[in-house]
Parts: sequence; structure tokens; C-alpha cells
Amino acid sequence: MHQVLSPSADRRADAAAVLVGLGACLPARRVTNSELCGRLDTSDEWIRERIGIAERRIADPEVSTGDMAVEAGARALASAGVAGVDAVLVATSSPDHRCPATAPWVAHRLGLGPVAAFDVAAGCSGFVYASAVAAGLIASGTARRVLVVGAETMSALIDPADRATAPIFGDGAGAAVYEAGPHHLDGALNPVVWGSDGSLADAIVVPAGGARERHRDPHAPAAPPGDAFVRMRGNEVFRHAVRRMTAAARDAAAAAGWELRDVDRLLAHQANHRVNAAVADALGVPHEHVPSNIHQVGNTAAASLPLLLCHAADRGDLKPGHKVLLVAFGSGLAWAATTLVWPAGLSPRL
Ligand code: UT7
Repeated sequence: MHQVLSPSADRRADAAAVLVGLGACLPARRVTNSELCGRLDTSDEWIRERIGIAERRIADPEVSTGDMAVEAGARALASAGVAGVDAVLVATSSPDHRCPATAPWVAHRLGLGPVAAFDVAAGCSGFVYASAVAAGLIASGTARRVLVVGAETMSALIDPADRATAPIFGDGAGAAVYEAGPHHLDGALNPVVWGSDGSLADAIVVPAGGARERHRDPHAPAAPPGDAFVRMRGNEVFRHAVRRMTAAARDAAAAAGWELRDVDRLLAHQANHRVNAAVADALGVPHEHVPSNIHQVGNTAAASLPLLLCHAADRGDLKPGHKVLLVAFGSGLAWAATTLVWPAGLSPRL
């Protein structure tokens, strides 16, 4: 069985991707800064002040990225009040396996049938990248409804002894359902502004395990294992994050025909509260218009923005009619931004 990709009158081309559902999944286990301080040369004060994190959620060893994606996806579908989609996209840097992609298994577990399903590897920008792909699929008439999940088990990629990364990252998943609809509808995604700079590919990298630095011969037990943990030049990444997010956010607002002063809420990737304060200052957006959840969940990479959308909407911080600007940045380096007017009647399932 396969899907027939034939646009029809029903599958009207050039439709917008309209956000109609949101879901979240966080592991139950909270790891506080004090717990980390027991094994790392760091302090609660440093992590709170320099990053903005009080605690993060860490998945139990038997819980995978796919498991959390299924949970978040099911909640997003329930939030949208729909049972089926035409495609499933999972944005992740911590897939269940290097092969196959995680998305087909997620689609299977959700009972979605033989739909198109693939992963999007764009680091912390993955959710916005995948949303751009979903919008393209909808605009071309290839799909009418798409489930986009950002899901990460970052704890599987973190060296517990590395104080440059261990305090930062957390696990979780967030999901969105987009449906074909008119561009003027609230919830319709406006153009995505995106880019990358592969000359800084090594600024955030998992050195081993891919084709560049292959896993060692399993039959040669004396061979040292490769470094399969995330290594990040945080300070350098910080400066690029501020510059690229500011420019992408500005361009995304312009692409929507908005003035920056019209932006009601700026939702930025949750990597560091100081990065987002600097971006907000550069854009002239007041800090109280920049919702955050980094203190509770840390940096959840591709799950960061869909989780923030869920949490901000759930606490009433996103009101119908609000002009919302989304911006992300991360490994690649890759960045992306887009805008939408917040729709009425959208209740995330947490
Ligand atoms: O999600 C993908 C995108 N990622 C980002 O956007 C990450 C952006 N980068 C960051 O968030 C920050 O650069 C970090 C949080 C990673 C690091 O913060 P920083 O302020 O850039 O720290 P730094 O590396 O410049 O180090 C400042 C000081 C140093 O001490 P001295 O030399 O000033 O005495 C470090 O040794 O902080 C020290 N330090 C720490 N102290 C306690 C570095 N890491 C730690 C730590 N605990 N974990």
C-alpha cells in the first residue's frame, strides 16, 4: 500500500498550514541543579544565573525519543480533534536508531496507517524546519494534514561528567498538527525564514558514531570507543545564536508584513535566558512578552519550541489574535523563524 500523491480539487494547492492542535510529553523524573552539583564542578547559582535553568526532565533508560514522540503526537491529535494525518515528521537529534528514521515507527504506534513518515535533522531548529516542510507539503497539495513532532532524549547524548553540556540539556517532546486552510485564517503559518552555516559544524557536534568517525570494530574490544557525546563551544555558539536569531526574527516579521512593534509574543528556542534577553533587546521586544520555560525543562533541542508553545498557551500567555514570532537556532549551525496569529479555541494537551 502507498499514498497516491495526486493533487485534486479537494487537495487545493497553495493552501496555508494552519495550526490546529498541540501536545506535550515530559518525563516524570525531575533533575534539580543541586542533584547535578553532587557530581559536577558547578553550582545551582551559576546554572540559574548563567543559563536560567532550575531543573530539567530526564527520561528513564527504557523510555526513548520515539516513545515520547508517540505520547506528544497522540495528545496533539486529541487537541486537534482528529484521528488521521497524511504525513508524520519527527524533528530530532537523538533518534531511536541511526537507521531507520523514528517517524515511521511513531506513525505506526499512533495507528496512522501507511502514511509518509520521516525524520528532520536540523538540531534545535528542527521543529521550525519540519513545520516549513509541512507547510510546503500542504501548499503543494501533497498533504492536507501533517503531524510535526519535536522529540529528544538529549540525556542519551550527554557526557554526565561534562559541565559544559550536562547542566544544559533535558528530555521531552512537543507536537503540532497542521491542516490545509486559507492564508488569512488565524493559526496559518506565515513564510519561514531559515538558513545554515556548515563552516561551524564542529561548534555543536557528536564526533563519533556517524560516517566521519565510525564506530570501532566490535570484534576488537581493545579499541577505544569514539566520543559519542555532544561537544559544544558554548561561548562561541552564544554569540552566533544572538546574531542569527535576531536577524531571522526580523526577517520573518518582515516576510509576514509585520512591524516588530506589532509582535505580541516572541517565542525563542530555550537554550539560555541571556541569549533570549539579548535577542529581545535587539528586536525591541519587552522581556514580559518573551515567554519562557527553560527554568523547568532546560534545553530540549528540537522539542523546545513545541513544548514552549504548549506551556505558554496552557498558562494563558498566548491569547487569540496575538501576533506570535517563533525563532530557533542550534547545531548545523542552523536557524529558522516564522510567525502566526494565535488562533481561538486551541487547547494544548499536556
Ligand atoms: O541549543 C543549541 C544552541 N545553544 C546555545 O545557544 C548555547 C549558547 N551558549 C550558552 O548557553 C553558554 O555559552 C553556556 C551556558 C554554554 C556557557 O556560559 P558562558 O557564560 O558562555 O560560560 P563560559 O564558557 O564563557 O565560562 C564563563 C565562566 C568560566 O570561568 P572563568 O574563566 O570566568 O573563571 C568557566 O570556567 O564560567 C565557568 N563555567 C562554569 N562554572 C560553573 C563554565 N561552565 C560552568 C559550569 N558551572 N557548568
